[in-house]
Amino acid sequence: MPKVTFITPTGERIEIPQACGTLMEAAVEHGVEGIDADCGGVGSCATCHVRVAREWLERVGPPGEAEQGTLDFQDGVDECSRLSCQIELTEALDGLVVEVEPL
Ligand code: FES
Repeated sequence: MPKVTFITPTGERIEIPQACGTLMEAAVEHGVEGIDADCGGVGSCATCHVRVAREWLERVGPPGEAEQGTLDFQDGVDECSRLSCQIELTEALDGLVVEVEPL
């Protein structure tokens, strides 16, 4: 299971050594501040918005069409933005670092 690190809006680093499921599920399970996941992970609320560290962008990949459609309605979105509920954690993402967008 991959290790992932969240940097919260207050600058706290939260490392999850053995994360599984989606990135959002790992965040909710560990009480990461700023990830509310109001829609339960269907990609419609954007309360799980994160910014992927630039060195991880290629490996994480771009948002899908529906995900991009949700992001288009949010403030503060840039090329690093993803909905964490749409990122399935695999071994290839071991070491991933993301910043949590403030709600
Ligand atoms: S949990 Fe709602 S968009 Fe990710």
